[in-house]
Amino acid sequence: MKAAYIAETGSPDVIRYGDLPDPQPGASQVLVKVGAVAVNPIDTYLRGGIIPMPLEFPYIVGCDLAGTVESVGSDVTRFRPGDRVWGSNQGLFGRPGTFAELAAVDEQWLYATPHEQKDEQAAAGALTGITAHLGLFLHAGLKKGEIVFVNGGTGGVGSAVVQFAKAAGARVVATAGTDEKRTRCESLGADLVLDYHSSTLDDEIRAFAEPNGGVDIWWETQREPTFDRTIGLMKQRGRIVLMAGRDARPEFPVGPFYVNDLKLVGFAMFNASPDEQRQCAEDINRWASSGEWVPVIGQTLPLSEAASAHRLQEDNTLQKQGTLTGKIVLTT
Ligand SMILES: NC(=O)c1ccc[n+]([C@@H]2O[C@H](COP(=O)([O-])OP(=O)(O)OC[C@H]3O[C@@H](n4cnc5c(N)ncnc54)[C@H](OP(=O)(O)O)[C@@H]3O)[C@@H](O)[C@H]2O)c1
Repeated sequence: MKAAYIAETGSPDVIRYGDLPDPQPGASQVLVKVGAVAVNPIDTYLRGGIIPMPLEFPYIVGCDLAGTVESVGSDVTRFRPGDRVWGSNQGLFGRPGTFAELAAVDEQWLYATPHEQKDEQAAAGALTGITAHLGLFLHAGLKKGEIVFVNGGTGGVGSAVVQFAKAAGARVVATAGTDEKRTRCESLGADLVLDYHSSTLDDEIRAFAEPNGGVDIWWETQREPTFDRTIGLMKQRGRIVLMAGRDARPEFPVGPFYVNDLKLVGFAMFNASPDEQRQCAEDINRWASSGEWVPVIGQTLPLSEAASAHRLQEDNTLQKQGTLTGKIVLTT
């Protein structure tokens, strides 16, 4: 099979596209004929060797996939050949990645693809969707009617947070960097979309959230959280969600944090159990079928261009070039 893989960690140039042996599914595994995969920032950190995770070379890159079941192992009960499936959480903790024509994936990490969704969309919403769901519901305990602020509302994770929060009955204020992206974010359902460059940004958030007593959930997608301003905009008993910025060491105003009964919630999606992730997938599929969840795809490329896709992801997540809106999808 053709695959995008690395033989050593390094820059995007270490990604090779070529032939590797077809995987043989184990008893609990499903052999998926991959239709589409999506790039996530963590793929680039693993390829670059900047986060500690065991990698067996040749290592196939990628966490997300969507495709069609080719065959199943003897213990598989939920899928059969011909079923359409999507999933994430591959390429981690010693598991091979997904950027290949075939992938052998444990059935616990796979979900049925709603017939309304193409493989491209299901792959685009996989890791980002599960992340958004875990953060909003398992970790931050979102309740109907609450105000959610999303810093970066058209990014991979941010665009999922906006849509899921709306689907759950929240009011959403989000930020984006250009007029075009702000219009896009409004079309995702955000009640108010602000320019993160604006010098009056905090006044505008305050004005929106004031009748509520402040922001209930602050979802920070940025790698440098700004606690001094964030904490002042929160409602009592609000929750601040952190999920990026391993090296960040920001200042933290302890007094205003604890006297307002605030909570700081950090999480990484790959720590969630298969059952927890499947619960997310059930809502995600329901919202995909009802049209409340439409993953945002910014760029579609052939799998052979995996190295360019990693460069584009890094240009945006690390260099903040703003040249991407949503996910990069690759097709086989
Ligand atoms: N903990 C976890 O489980 C988990 C899971 C997934 C991702 N992550 C991490 O979460 C981060 C975001 O991932 P992603 O896939 O959503 O990345 P992404 O698609 O590259 O999105 C980046 C977002 O940042 C926004 N942005 C850039 N500069 C900004 C600024 N100054 N103020 C506010 N927003 C700004 C961008 O907005 P514009 O496009 O409008 O400029 C865009 O919405 C990454 O660091 C990733 O590693 C963590």
